[in-house]
Amino acid sequence: MRLILLGPPGAGKGTQAEGIVQKYNIPHISTGDIFRAALREGTEMGLKAKGYMDSGQLVPDEIVVGVVTERLRKSDCVKGFLLDGFPRNANQAEALDKVVEHMSIKIDGVINIDVPDEELVDRLTGRRMCKGCGASFHVKFKAPKVRNVCDSCGGELYQRDDDTVETAKERLEIYHSQTAPLIEYYTKKGVILNINGNQDMKAVLAEIIEALGKIE
Ligand code: AP5
Ligand code: MG
Ligand code: ZN
Repeated sequence: MRLILLGPPGAGKGTQAEGIVQKYNIPHISTGDIFRAALREGTEMGLKAKGYMDSGQLVPDEIVVGVVTERLRKSDCVKGFLLDGFPRNANQAEALDKVVEHMSIKIDGVINIDVPDEELVDRLTGRRMCKGCGASFHVKFKAPKVRNVCDSCGGELYQRDDDTVETAKERLEIYHSQTAPLIEYYTKKGVILNINGNQDMKAVLAEIIEALGKIE
């Protein structure tokens, strides 16, 4: 399965990716996670990306497209992959078309997780991430058993720098102006799978697995 996860910030792309990659045994490729890891390692790319991420802007296409192209050529992508947060504008989508054409493969499905704006700011500002294993929690919707401690590894939880009210709103604006048009782009290609993301996390995953079952 070669899949893309599309949806606004906070829609549940990362949350749902866990269940999808487990079922299909494919790598989860999140461009946001790649940039955050690069920043932790202190690479030049990570430092460059940080400025854009902290203000809710998109990292320039030439950086992102290069990172993804390199990642897709790794051997673990031969059996499939799940792209999360890429592509994010028309230029990136066209660049991806060229890359997959060059690799003689095609995208099987684009999972579009739909959630109304009014739900998203709460989801983002309440999110907590584990410093140890990267697991994601929410103070209300997926609270850890012990406050600020990861259920899986006991690591300390933290808040992403871009999960402030102000930056969340900016990210939502960027999503609507630059990313949302990709829904039509992939609908025209006949690969879109529309999913209601405004329900319980487990119900969202069930809807995704059912939709993927139809294209297997
Ligand atoms: P990225 O890391 O991709 O962030 P994003 O797209 O803004 O999406 P999020 O990760 O915030 O949300 P999510 O949909 O994964 O939600 P999650 O499952 O965590 O990108 C960050 C930045 O990197 C960008 O702003 C940009 O600067 C840069 N970047 C990345 N890719 C780029 C690209 N291609 N081009 C240019 N720049 C790029 O869920 C959120 C919270 O809600 C969690 O706490 C979760 O527990 C909770 N939750 C999830 N599902 C539910 C549910 N059904 N009900 C209740 N709560 C739920
Ligand atoms: Mg995410
Ligand atoms: Zn952890």
